[in-house]
Amino acid sequence: MSEMREDVLKVLISEEEIKRRVKELGKQITEDFAGKDIVVVSVLKGSVMFMADLLREIDVHTEIDFMVCSSYGSGVVSTGAVKMLKDIFLPIEGRDVIIVEDILDTGKTLHYIKDYLWARKPNSIQICTLLDKPERRQADINADYIGFVVPDEFVIGYGLDYDEHYRNLPYIGVLKPSVYSE
Ligand code: PRP
Repeated sequence: MSEMREDVLKVLISEEEIKRRVKELGKQITEDFAGKDIVVVSVLKGSVMFMADLLREIDVHTEIDFMVCSSYGSGVVSTGAVKMLKDIFLPIEGRDVIIVEDILDTGKTLHYIKDYLWARKPNSIQICTLLDKPERRQADINADYIGFVVPDEFVIGYGLDYDEHYRNLPYIGVLKPSVYSE
């Protein structure tokens, strides 16, 4: 087996760029929610790195929770069917909620999650995504906070996987096509 980083075609967004942008997003959220007590919901597993780094840049009262939702099989192409595998524990009625995602792709996952959470009557729901791939959008959904707009390439790292691997790369990279066409 090759070393993990040998499977990366190119670095799309470096560690430094991610760090700088996450700081800006945290500052923006801190300003927008000044004086509030928010609930930040991470959609696992992809958002794990972004969530951990973003939270440390947010300076308002915050509770955190986690949700597991799956829309993809182990391959490259989305099946489109969203499944709720683990719900949040916190009550969110009347609360201001921020959903944290690693990527907004077809939008089917976030569309489903937003509807699902709205049913609990929160005061507001905002979406904060590290990456946005608008070219691939199928559902009518947009993010309120976007880290980076990315082209339609197979992105991995900083939480994003291919077949559950590469999440531990510290940057966002593009996977070599030979890896998934093998
Ligand atoms: C990925 C990603 C988003 C979703 C985006 O999750 O984390 O949740 O797909 O795709 P969409 O906009 O086309 O719905 P995945 O199901 O691969 O799970 P993971 O976070 O555990 O990698």
